Parts: sequence; C-alpha cells; structure tokens
Amino acid sequence: MSTLILGIESSCDETGVALVRTPASGVSDAGTPELLGHALHTQVAMHADYGGVVPELASRDHIRRLLPLTRQVLAQAGQTLSGIDLVAYTRGPGLAGALLVGAGVACALGASLGKPVLGVHHLEGHLLSPFLSADAPQFPFVALLVSGGHTQLMRVQGVGHYELLGETVDDAAGEAFDKSAKLLGLGYPGGPALARLAEFGDPQAYKLPRPLLHSGHLDFSFAGLKTAVLTQARKLEGSPCEQQRADLAASAQAAIVEVLVKKSLAALAGTGLRRLVVAGGVGANSALREQLNAACQARGVRVHYPELHLCTDNGAMIAMAAALRVQAQLAQTSTDYAFDVKPRWPLQSLSAA
Ligand code: KG4
Ligand code: ZN
Repeated sequence: MSTLILGIESSCDETGVALVRTPASGVSDAGTPELLGHALHTQVAMHADYGGVVPELASRDHIRRLLPLTRQVLAQAGQTLSGIDLVAYTRGPGLAGALLVGAGVACALGASLGKPVLGVHHLEGHLLSPFLSADAPQFPFVALLVSGGHTQLMRVQGVGHYELLGETVDDAAGEAFDKSAKLLGLGYPGGPALARLAEFGDPQAYKLPRPLLHSGHLDFSFAGLKTAVLTQARKLEGSPCEQQRADLAASAQAAIVEVLVKKSLAALAGTGLRRLVVAGGVGANSALREQLNAACQARGVRVHYPELHLCTDNGAMIAMAAALRVQAQLAQTSTDYAFDVKPRWPLQSLSAA
C-alpha cells in the first residue's frame, strides 16, 4: 500500500505545503516517493520593511496561509483531505512561534482525520530535497548543508544515518551572505541580492580572509569575514562608487564560496566518497554551483542539488523527508497529538544507531 503524506513547513519566513506519495510497499526496488503537488507563500515582502524576519509577524502570517495553501495543494493534486494517511510538519530547528503554528495545524488536521502525525527535522528536509529531482542521489554521500542558520558537512550513509564531519563555529554561510549584504546597503533577503551585485564585480578586488581554510579539520568560521567586509564597507561610505560596491560583493562571495568548495573537497577526500549533495538556501548560489561543478568534475565526483526553486524552504522537502522515513521504516509517528517543537535540534542527534 502506498502512503499519502501532507507536508507542512513553517520554521521561518516561508509557508510551504506539499503532498508526496510513497510507492506501494512490498514491491522490490519500490523507487522514490512522488511529489504530487506543492504550494509556497513567501513572507519576503512583509519582512522587507523591517530589514529581516520579525518572528511574531511570521507566526501570524503562517496561521493565515496554511489552510488555504493546503486546499490549493489538494486541488492541484486531485486529492481530498480524507485521502491523507500521514500529516508531517517541521518540528525544528527554527523560530519557536512559527514552528508551533505548523505543529498546531498539523496536529489539529491529524486529530480531525484520525491520522498520525510526524515531526520532521528541517535540515533533514533540506538534506533529502535532491530526492525531489529526476536525478536523485544514491547513498552514501557527503552533504554540504548551507542555510541561513547552519553550515555543516555530513557523512550520510542512508536515511536517518547522519555523521557530522564539520560545522561552523560562529556564523553560517547564509548569515555571512546576509550580513555582508546588509553592510553593503542591500535589503533583506541579502544572499540573492549580494549574488546579483557580485555579477558586476571583480572577485579579486579585495583581499578578504578565508577563515580556517587550511585548519586541517572541517569546521568553518565566517565571523572574521563579516568584520573584514565591515572595514572595507566603511571606507566606501561617502564615496558611493557602484563598481567598488560590486567589487566588494564579488570578493565577499568569492571568499565564502572558496571556503565551502575547499572544505567539501576535503570531506570527500577524507571519507573516500564520490558523491556530494548540496542543500539549503545558499545552494542556490550560482558561483558556488559553478565552482563545485568544475572541481567535482575534475575529480570524478557526482554532485547533486535540489531543483533551484526547492533550495530554499518549502513543504515538498518536509513531505519527502517524511516519505523516505516511512519507506525506511524509521518514522516515529504519533497519534496523541501532544506536540512540542524543537527550536534547537542538532541533525546528528537523529542518527539511528
Ligand atoms: O535554507 P533557507 O531557505 O532557510 C534556512 O533554513 O535558513 O536559507 C536561507 C539562506 C539565507 O541566508 C539566504 O540569504 C541564502 O539562503 N540564499 C542565498 C541565495 N539564495 C538564498 N545565498 C547566496 N546566494 C543565493 N542565490
Ligand atoms: Zn531552511
């Protein structure tokens, strides 16, 4: 029997809902679960006036959007509420209030339908999001997880088997993009804006630090880069030269990308694995993709990304992670609906023994 899963994402500033169906069980080589439909509402416009995400406003907007988006996805997929077998939601990490909205709606839906619920780890969603592509990866692989709050290298043996190889000791890569963008007077969300400005700049114009590049381990540090960008941005104040701003944006992006590429290659060399999965919002960055593609091709390594529109937060990755857990018989579903959320939740703590 196949399982129809509704996935709900509400950990930050995107409201996402999706329907995924697992292939019928009992079939050998059952294949990858199928995405039947997904819908997304981004809160970017709402938070833009404040220069960043306002948690209370995020929660209120998730409440407004979730049920209409659910109806939209059901209609898109030609399904009805009563056909749903499992309601999956993002349990953490993320903004506590925003997570509570998704968990509350998921548990209310589950209770009213008499169907179980499953709390999903947001980063597991990102990590498994390349399974939504036609060219899905095979296990094992190294994963580079680069989002607004996390920068991690993981060894992934299979669903639920995640070994942390290295992570940031301070700012995340997405944060480095966002903070550099802010220093350059670019609005929220900073990463894509900085990437756009960087297209017109010289990545070698400013010599910016590549922290921990030759440290011999796989941890990252991006706080020093932010300070260096701040110092250079101050020098530009009063001389609003567009080319210099573009050069600084390109140089900041080059520093972040070089560290991410070199550490990913070191993780591949250290583990002996020949497959890399890149996931999380920063995975949408085209300079990162170009350099990783070139470096991996030269080494005979396959690199997988989620589709561009599924790099940032969405409901499809949550429904897919739930479906892969169901398939792997690792889904700890609940029918008591006494939900809690985990604003802080290390991914490696999920590892099945
Ligand atoms: O995964 P995500 O949507 O949310 C979190 O789970 O944090 O990632 C958001 C992060 C933000 O820091 C955003 O600036 C960054 O991803 N980002 C980018 C690009 N698109 C999104 N950074 C660089 N280049 C991009 N094209
Ligand atoms: Zn995310």
